Formats: sequence, structure tokens, C-alpha cells
Amino acid sequence: MKILIIDDEKNICSAIKGILTDEGYDCDYSLNYADGYKKLQESKFDVLFLDIWLPDIDGVEGLKEVKRHFPETEVIMISGHGTIETAVDTIRYGAYDFLEKPLSLERIVMIIKHLDDKMSLMQDLRSSKYKNIKKYDLIGVSDAILRLKEKIERIATMNSWVLITGENGTGKEHVARLIHMLGKRNDKPFVEINCSAVPTELIESELFGSEKGAYTGAVKRKIGKFELANEGILFLDEIGDMGLMMQAKLLRVLETGEFSRLGGNDVIKSDFRLISATNKDLQLEIESNRFRSDLFYRINVIPIEVPPLRKRKDDIPLLISYFINETVTINGLKEKTITEELMNLFVSYEWPGNVRQLKNVVERMVVLSEDDVLDVKDAPSILISGNDNIEIDIQSDMYSPSLKEARDEFEKNFILKALQSTNWNIAQTARVLDMERTYLYRKIKSYDLEKYKK
Ligand SMILES: Nc1ncnc2c1ncn2[C@@H]1O[C@H](COP(=O)(O)OP(=O)(O)OP(=O)(O)O)[C@@H](O)[C@H]1O
Ligand SMILES: [Mg+2]
Repeated sequence: MKILIIDDEKNICSAIKGILTDEGYDCDYSLNYADGYKKLQESKFDVLFLDIWLPDIDGVEGLKEVKRHFPETEVIMISGHGTIETAVDTIRYGAYDFLEKPLSLERIVMIIKHLDDKMSLMQDLRSSKYKNIKKYDLIGVSDAILRLKEKIERIATMNSWVLITGENGTGKEHVARLIHMLGKRNDKPFVEINCSAVPTELIESELFGSEKGAYTGAVKRKIGKFELANEGILFLDEIGDMGLMMQAKLLRVLETGEFSRLGGNDVIKSDFRLISATNKDLQLEIESNRFRSDLFYRINVIPIEVPPLRKRKDDIPLLISYFINETVTINGLKEKTITEELMNLFVSYEWPGNVRQLKNVVERMVVLSEDDVLDVKDAPSILISGNDNIEIDIQSDMYSPSLKEARDEFEKNFILKALQSTNWNIAQTARVLDMERTYLYRKIKSYDLEKYKK
């Protein structure tokens, strides 16, 4: 903490400087206001001791000027002729506290310690805001994610409406919240509504709000999401699932920025930035007359596509270590790592549920496994049985397989997938499948699997 003293009495300056330097603070002083003010301009001081009677300025005027230009610097006024009235006055102008001469050095130390605590608390609060931004940081190193991040940073501070598309679990909501955190509206609400989760007959009152008695059961006024999102962000999740009637009503609000609560006449205006998201292909929905093209053009000013995880496998290792750390920290566990084999398995898997599925799998493994090193044996069988696209082509051979044939076919594919996921490491595959190595060899032979080895 840096401290400046402005007082025309040199012995006062050195006394304060002496005691606070002993306490470990960084102190400087000036014998007149002009000189002190220059020091404030040159570097940031956390605390200023300011004499009320100075040769070149009225200390109260000085206080006002300092608070105007350096609002974060806390000012403690010093006066030899202090009265309670002056003290109250300076507090009103933003002084933190007030001292009377003769000074009590103990009291000075006490005030400074108190301020020190307060400032470090503020520091923590500020860094927790930073952590919040971190919380929605997009983890990834693939070109696709780096490009996406760059685009988000560019558009976050704009006001244009955004449409985020991508498969389930790719991180659409995560992206929407990141845009909010990085944007100008980050101290205003982020209001979310999931259009597929709210029943059609309720979505209207959810969005518009309703007056008391608007419908049976409306016992009091309800403020809708449009209104709540004023000055902030309205996040319409799964907008592709919104019914056509509601789409028409939404479009009208988006065009005029005006609406009324259900059962009410007042025209309400709301200024929100709209971010929509969907996992549907809206062009296709338009072609099949399930989505209005005029609404599409209105919401899709800035399109953002979040690619599926299988198209950015470079991100998998980083996401894994991020989710391991997160789970370990939240649950107060010891640090954990994963074996190379398990990493290979994770990277080769196709992740149909994208980042959400990866996150769930990692969390579950971290919590359930007692070892510090996670291994293939801890992995859920779905990863090993592969990418659930084992197909048995019944048509082609015109044969109707007996149960035994079907079972053999399944077993063959199952083992083959496991072999591929371990890069044909026999020992590891045997461990994954929990079978004897010799038995695995026999199976490889009997199904003639070697021919699939690349
Ligand atoms: N790049 C990323 N870095 C860190 N966490 C991520 C990333 N992408 C997604 N996540 C996390 O994965 C989970 C799923 O993401 P999110 O809910 O945003 O997906 P979604 O696309 O909205 O899914 P759905 O279509 O099912 O609604 C969340 O916990 C989210 O925080
Ligand atoms: Mg979502």
C-alpha cells in the first residue's frame, strides 16, 4: 500500500512516515499541496493524509479535487484546529476519516490497518469478477476455437444480435455467457429462457409478463423476460423449437421494441441485446415451414457456429485437464492425472454429446476413482465399445442371422473397435476388455481381424 502525506509541518510528515514505514508501508510526503498533487499525478497512491490548513490551498478544496481526479485514493484529513463540523464536512466530500492534532500515532496505525484490510478485500472482489470471466473462458487450442474466441472478443462489445448454432453440448450457452461477460452490458442482467422447456401456452406470459387476473391463476402481476432483460441480454435458447404462433408475436416485439403484458394495456419498451441459440438447422426448418424466414433474418445478424468436438480433437487434452482440475478443486480432492492410453482413448472417441459429455465423463471418473492416475479401466464402457455405430448389414447378404451369428458379429466389431482405440496394443486391449491376452489372440485369429489393421 502506498501512502502520501501533505502537511506543511515537516515534523508531522516525518512522524507519520516513520511509524508507517516501520509497519512496512511505502510512504512519501510533500510540504505543500502543489507538490503533493504532482506526486499523485505521477504515481498511484492508495492513501493520502491531507492537512486542512495548507499554505497554498484550503484542504477541503484539495480533498474535493483529489476525489474528483483520483477517486480510488482514500483521504484522511488532518487538522490542528479541527471541529466536529469540519470533520463531518470532509466526510461528506469523500474523506475516509479525520485526525486531530496532536496526532495519536496508534490511531494512525489502526486506521491504516483497517484500510489495508478493506483494500485487500476489494482486490479479492475484483479478482472474483475476473474469475467469473475465467469461468466462461473458452478452453481450447484448436484453430476453430481460437478463431471463435477472436470473433467473440470482436463482437462482444457491439450491440448487434447474435445467433449461435451448434450440436448438443458444444457450448452454445457458454458462448452466450462469455459474450455477456465481455460486453458493455456485463453489469446488467443476462436473462435466459429455454423455448423448448417452457410449454407453448406458458411461453407468452413468460416473455411478455402478465397483469393480475390476465388468466385464471394469475394472482399477481408478473414481469416478463423481455422486461427483465432491459439494458441487458435476452438469451433465447432453443429458438428453433418455438411454435409458429409465438414466432409471429416475437417478431413483432423485435421489430418495434414494444409490447404489453398479457391482460394489460400499457406499452412497455425494453432495450435488450438478443442472443439466440439452436441446435437445429434453421434453413432446413424454414424450408419445411417450421420457422419464419423473416424472424430468421432478424435474429441472425451475427452468426456464430460452435463446431462439434469431433472436428476439433486438438482441444480434448486441454479440456480434460481443465475439467479434472475443476472437479478436484470443487470436491477438495488430490490432483489427478490420466494415463497416455486413456488419453488416446478419449481423443479417438467421437463424443456425440460433445463437451458436455466429455465433462460428465471426466467428472464421474475423477470422483469415483480412488487412484491418483486415471486409467482405461476407469473409463465408462461406452468409450470402449466405440462410437455406437456398429452396424450389422442384414440386407446385403440376404441372410437372417441366428442369435449366435448376431452375437459373433457384435463381438467381432466390439473387439475391433477396442483394438483400434488402443492402436492395436494387445496388452492394453486385453485390459480394457477385461479378458485374457491369449484368449484375445484367439479371437483375433478366429475373426481374422488382422486384415483390418492399417
Ligand atoms: N470450450 C469450453 N471450455 C470450457 N467449458 C466448456 C466449453 N464448451 C462447453 N463447455 C461446458 O460444457 C457444458 C455444456 O455447454 P453448454 O451448456 O454451453 O452447451 P450447449 O451447446 O448449450 O448444449 P445444449 O445444446 O445441450 O443446450 C457446460 O458445462 C459448459 O460450461
Ligand atoms: Mg444450451
